[in-house]
Amino acid sequence: MCGIVGYIGDKQAQPVLFNCLARLEYRGYDSCGIAVAGSEVKVFKDAVRVKALEKVTPKLAGTLGIGHTRWATHGEPSRVNAHPHLDCPGKICVVHNGIINNYQKLRQKLARAGHHFVSETDTEVLPHLVEEYYDGNLEMAVSRALQEVEGSYAIVVLAVGNRELVIARRDSPIIVGLGDRENYIASDVPAILDYTSRVVYLEDNDIGVVTANSLQIKNGGAEVARKEHKISWTVEDAQKAGYEYFMLKEIHEQPKVIRDTIGGYVAEGEAVGLADSGDFDLGDVLILASGTSYHAALVGKYIIEELVRTPVRTELASEFNYCGCTSPRSVTIVVTQSGETADALKAMKRLKGEGCRVSVITNVVGSTASRLADRVIYTRAGPEISVAATKSFLAQLMALYWLALPYSKIDIRRLDSLITELRQLPGKVQQVLDREGSIAECAKQLAKFDNIFFVGRGINYPVALEGALKLKEISYIHAEGCAAGELKHGPFALLGKEVPVVAVVGNDNTYEAMLTSIKEVKARHSPVIAIVGNGDGEIEELVNTVISVPKVEPIFSPVVNTVALQLLAYYTAKERGCPIDFPRNLAKSVTVE
Ligand code: BG6
Repeated sequence: MCGIVGYIGDKQAQPVLFNCLARLEYRGYDSCGIAVAGSEVKVFKDAVRVKALEKVTPKLAGTLGIGHTRWATHGEPSRVNAHPHLDCPGKICVVHNGIINNYQKLRQKLARAGHHFVSETDTEVLPHLVEEYYDGNLEMAVSRALQEVEGSYAIVVLAVGNRELVIARRDSPIIVGLGDRENYIASDVPAILDYTSRVVYLEDNDIGVVTANSLQIKNGGAEVARKEHKISWTVEDAQKAGYEYFMLKEIHEQPKVIRDTIGGYVAEGEAVGLADSGDFDLGDVLILASGTSYHAALVGKYIIEELVRTPVRTELASEFNYCGCTSPRSVTIVVTQSGETADALKAMKRLKGEGCRVSVITNVVGSTASRLADRVIYTRAGPEISVAATKSFLAQLMALYWLALPYSKIDIRRLDSLITELRQLPGKVQQVLDREGSIAECAKQLAKFDNIFFVGRGINYPVALEGALKLKEISYIHAEGCAAGELKHGPFALLGKEVPVVAVVGNDNTYEAMLTSIKEVKARHSPVIAIVGNGDGEIEELVNTVISVPKVEPIFSPVVNTVALQLLAYYTAKERGCPIDFPRNLAKSVTVE
């Protein structure tokens, strides 16, 4: 997810472009750039934040320009990989948000035709492809070029000597902000609200030609009319797409995050698998991580042991640095959303020092972990702004399913049905999101308590840990995650009317034992909230409150159960009036030990 902007009018474009870009940094902030077209196109870009680039960019004369703030997916953050990208003669200039799946094929074809590439990005094929068809009619050249492109895109294209901007979209958002003798282009509304509240949204496969005084949109070659909307949001509201907090926005992005993460692996034919050697005779698997990523690693243990039937060890990165031994034969995976967590990086350096090959599952292209690792598996959650990790956790689970499935020792028909259900998970998660209201009601009760237990068994034990962590992080309630089987070995002493228990009940071989645990908890007078599959009458009779989630294959239950727990934590914190996105004493990524 990147932010793209464009301006054409009678103002100097440079300050407008920088101001609009600064408003879009929540979409990506690892590098940025602008291009201003006067007699020639001048491009300034670097792997810095918008404000930093603005400070060092000389005055560029011109009332037409485009800009970009990046969230790297192909090619790490650097000046050469930053956008805008140019064709060889520097006549065609493009900014892009999305992923071009067939860029390697297009690159080879264009290179054979004499085009020279300078960056590692997928995007750079676009200005070269447009150049192939450009004879002065930019709209036609863009339209022909896009017929060869597979993947998602929102683009703004300019050509030297051409007083217009051509825009297009497929699966990535782009809007036009309508002004008086000027027009603004952006990925999203926050960018242009300082200038106008009149907005037109392009739809998939639309191609638009924007001049200072007009906007013409075509789809499939035919002219189409797109409605003008009046926006009443503040800039900050708009950055959250109307959600009160980034956390809630990021929770609601999860169906798309699952599609993008799995889609990325499929599209790139990334034959990901546990061992990058393709060696099916796996030794043990070691997964290291911190915080929420550690809970994803723990779920990964259950996934891999069930599907691949090979032993998995999980270690807290911070603890691993004091003990733990490795064997170079171990398949070693580090999970870290930011790729910058000091404990995880220290563990990686130690492992590499001991001759281990280290794979990393990370969400940030170009992060330190992605550079340290021997192999990188990217999640595609996009930038996660809220300190409490939500969508990145689900994306990590998708990566772990994807790692294990090719190595699974299960019956092929079962494998097929699992892959089919994996693709249906976005819909299942949406069903949980649709129950937000009833979960918010339940949270109102929970907000009254100061001590809460979360319990689960099997693959839902780490889910209980994650539910407790989410509540701790943002509501300041003392919440403890615990394996349900361990309650009787201590925590029972704390139970009672003032200490509710949230039970995460899987529809698997742990069900009966969870039922027993719930009865034992009820016998000690603790109120019980159960997260359980649809229509489970037996549990309903037993507990105080049921949060039902769609039934899924047991191995996928952490996906739907976690989303319900994220919403429960969010609405409990909201009920307590907590600063949800930036809770006290925490940081999005802890870069010190
Ligand atoms: C903490 C974050 O600082 O680090 C958590 O607040 C996160 O949300 C943890 O889970 C680990 O971070 P990462 O980036 O290594 O997954």
